[in-house]
Formats: sequence, structure tokens, C-alpha cells
Amino acid sequence: MSVSIEVTDVPTAPKSDNPLLMGQKSRMPEFSLAGKVIIVSGGARGLGLTQAEALLEAGAKVYALDRLSEPAPEFEQIQQKAKDLGTELHYRSIDVRDTELLNSVVESIANDEGRMDGLVAAAGIQQETSALEYSAKDSNTMFEVNVTGVFMTSQAVAKQIIRFGNGGSIVMIASMSGTVVNRGLICPAYNASKAAVLQLARNLAAEWGTYNIRVNTISPGYIVTSMVEKLFVEFPERREQWPKENMLGRLSRPEEYRGAAVFLLSDASSFMTGSDLRMDGGHTAW
Ligand SMILES: NC(=O)c1ccc[n+]([C@@H]2O[C@H](COP(=O)([O-])OP(=O)(O)OC[C@H]3O[C@@H](n4cnc5c(N)ncnc54)[C@H](O)[C@@H]3O)[C@@H](O)[C@H]2O)c1
Repeated sequence: MSVSIEVTDVPTAPKSDNPLLMGQKSRMPEFSLAGKVIIVSGGARGLGLTQAEALLEAGAKVYALDRLSEPAPEFEQIQQKAKDLGTELHYRSIDVRDTELLNSVVESIANDEGRMDGLVAAAGIQQETSALEYSAKDSNTMFEVNVTGVFMTSQAVAKQIIRFGNGGSIVMIASMSGTVVNRGLICPAYNASKAAVLQLARNLAAEWGTYNIRVNTISPGYIVTSMVEKLFVEFPERREQWPKENMLGRLSRPEEYRGAAVFLLSDASSFMTGSDLRMDGGHTAW
């Protein structure tokens, strides 16, 4: 026997004049970033910029740091969107290897804002070279940017969080390549650098827990950013092969990491630290 129910009165969400719906008392307030100041390194483009946009939508004020002199063209639109939402997106051109400048920029942001609440450390580089050919110089550069750069950015932000005493959250972008070796993608130093990021996060979480600073990582699978699009031009077979290597049979888009950034930066993850969020379509579970 089948029963049919006629729905006559579907309740709809009440209309609000406030464009920032998240963070209202009745709407998952633990996901709100309203009033928080967050730094995003590598925020000029790609994953960093996409996650910055999500943080803005959740109410944060965001400072994007990147070595590029100018951010990607879409940065301006996101800046305008932030304004419409009643918050702000700023840009500072800086190389994360310049520790002195990094500390002074982060400190002056904290001074201007009177607080510091968190970081997404997304700045990173990639190099495809076989292990027998890798030069010491290139290997040092890889670790300088991907490990020391992430470490020093986290340290600069943690110092300011500790100064204001409100606690905070740090998210480092690692990779599934920190846990497994990608088939047919020869990146020994990159993969080792991402493994280092995973362990670094656990150490910082252990040291900074007493300051109520949480430290976690996100390990994405393949993301179609401009970096990866360029690889597909050079190696078109990868566009066919890579999707077959995970359980969902496709590659990811930067937008699919928006929720993870907001979750990890907000109180929604308040008891989570020293942990890795692996988001790889099941690639490493196979
Ligand atoms: N694209 C992928 O498939 C993928 C997968 C897993 C992890 N990741 C990681 O995600 C992060 C973002 O990568 P993406 O794919 O958006 O690449 P991307 O090259 O578009 O973004 C990286 C950003 O970091 C910046 N950067 C590099 N070196 C820097 C330095 N020394 N100082 C300051 N900024 C610097 C670049 O200018 C760039 O804007 C990286 O850490 C990357 O390793 C990417």
C-alpha cells in the first residue's frame, strides 16, 4: 500500500535584512567567523583565494598574503563582495621566506585590528623532478617555502594570537601526497615537504594548546587550479588517468574546500586539534 502526503504549507526561511545569515543565533552560530581577523597565505589565487572568500562569507576580515605583486583578477570582485557583506579583504605582497617582513606585517595587522584569530597557510610550490636529478638547491627551496615558510607564518600569527589572548585556529594546507606517493607524478621533495607539514602541525598543536590555539591540516586530493591546468597541457593523459585513481572518479574543484576552511577556523571544530582532514575523493583509502 502506498500513502501519498500532500504538502500544502512548506515553511520557508524567514527573510532577513542582514546579508550575513551565518552566525545568527538560530543558524549554526558555531560556524560564524563574524568579527574575526584571519590571515591567508598564498591568498592571491587558487585554493587560498577560494578559501579566503568562504571565510569572508562566514563573517571574517581577511588579509591575503602572497609573493605575487598583484593578486588574480577575480580578487577585486571578491573584495567588493566582502564590502557588500559588511567585511573586508586586504592584500599584502610578501614572500613567506622573508621572516622579518612576515613578522612585522602580521604584527602591524594585529595592531591595526586589535586582535588576531587565525591562519590558513596555503602558500606552496610544486616541482616535478626525479630523485636522481634533484639538485640540493631546488630541494632546499622546496622545504624553505613549503615547510619553513608554513612554520614561520604560523609562528608569526601564533605570537599575535597569544599577545591578545583570545585563542585561535591555524590551518595548514598539506596534501594527500604527504601520506601516499602519487602514481606517475615524480615529486620526491614536494611529497616529503607535505609529510613534514602533517607532523609540524601535530607538534605546534601540542605546544600551543595551552594558549587555546588549535592547529590542523587539510590534505586535498587533486584540485583543478591553474597550476594543474598547466600540467594537463603538458601531460594530457593525466586528465584521463587521475580521476580514475579515486572513488568518485573525478578531480576536485577549489570550492569543495570552502566548508573545511570555515569549519576548521570556527568554533564548529572547537575540540579538534593536531588532526588532518583528508579530502581526496577516497584516493588514499583505496
Ligand atoms: N592543486 C592541487 O592539486 C593541490 C593538491 C593538494 C595540495 N595542494 C596545495 O594547496 C596549496 C595551494 O595550491 P594551489 O593549487 O592553489 O596552487 P597555486 O600555485 O595557484 O597557489 C599557491 C600560491 O602560493 C603562492 N606562493 C608560492 N610561494 C610563495 C612564497 N614563497 N611566499 C608567498 N606566497 C607564495 C603563489 O604565488 C600562489 O599564489 C599549496 O600548498 C599546494 O601544495 C594543491
